[in-house]
Amino acid sequence: MQKIILTGDRPTGKLHIGHYAGSLKNRVELQDSGNFDEIYIEIADAQALTDNADNPEKIRQNVIEVVLDYLACGIDPKKTSIFIQSAVPELCELTFYYLNLVTVSRLERNPTIKDEIKLRGFKTSIPAGFLAYPVSQAADITAFKATLVPVGEDQLPMLEQTKEIVRSFNNIYGKTLVEPEILLPKNKLCSRLPGLDGNAKMSKSLGNCIYLSDSEEEVKKKIMSMYTDPTHLKIEDPGHTENNPVFIYLEAFSNASHFAKYWPEFQNLDELKKAYEKGGIGDMKVKKFLNNVMEETLKPIRERRKYWENHIKEVYQILKDGTEKARQKAIETTKEVKAAMGINYFENDSWIKEQENKFN
Ligand code: TRP
Repeated sequence: MQKIILTGDRPTGKLHIGHYAGSLKNRVELQDSGNFDEIYIEIADAQALTDNADNPEKIRQNVIEVVLDYLACGIDPKKTSIFIQSAVPELCELTFYYLNLVTVSRLERNPTIKDEIKLRGFKTSIPAGFLAYPVSQAADITAFKATLVPVGEDQLPMLEQTKEIVRSFNNIYGKTLVEPEILLPKNKLCSRLPGLDGNAKMSKSLGNCIYLSDSEEEVKKKIMSMYTDPTHLKIEDPGHTENNPVFIYLEAFSNASHFAKYWPEFQNLDELKKAYEKGGIGDMKVKKFLNNVMEETLKPIRERRKYWENHIKEVYQILKDGTEKARQKAIETTKEVKAAMGINYFENDSWIKEQENKFN
């Protein structure tokens, strides 16, 4: 069987270092492993509209930001097809058929949806499209016969629903769809970086993110004013590294060569942590080190982003080509789906022949 990856993001804003540590870095590694026959990354604009119907401009503007962030991180359009969800109408078509295989109460039980409903304050005014977006996500995944879906933990319920739909479809109409496997981030710590302010989540609405597109100065300013250990008042005081975002970022991004280069007094993070916990290490010093570490990671990303910002026509072509490739694949699968359901009236003459025989 072919090995096919599909994953995606909603284009609701620029991507930040949490996205990088939690998924983009891993996507690039998967892409460059050479282990996959096809790789697709979807810009899920239609899904983003399920809770932004009143603000389509936000989605329209952020599509390009997300593509630029992908390219900046090393997503290679020769190996990965980047496509726009709404430009593949077959995904809507599949969604409409899959909706019949899912009950409303099942949709209401999806834990991620429940969280999001609370977070967005929908109460009893839940847009129907929003409640049903996991079904549309099942269409995204199955249209490409994806075998592997690398996503964050919050997407587990979506994958569960997708598998249920696949089983149900194959049971009723015959084996047509492929059941996907989820690939969760290896490193738990990286799967959700805290915000600069110590909040459990890095999010645009909280204004506590370092964006992949931030300038060197912006990054430095943000790091230098980060929340650390509030009990670490004097340099000599013992410090806490747990729940300390500075140390969590170091956990996610630093390695031994960073220490050799910028802080040779320590060989690795464990040594620095011990010293900080004992007391005698100032927060400013740790932050300066973190800034050096982040710069090593972000500089090449920033430079690649600049390059693509200056080549928007090429970016447009990349998106167009990626979407064309994705569309062909989705058309193929949709044909198979409709054939399995017996609603492919004009694909060949088998339906009309049957009808003729019925009447003659
Ligand atoms: N729901 C995903 C998110 O919010 C985005 C997404 C849409 C997706 N379609 C997908 C992820 C298909 C994986 C596969 O991040």
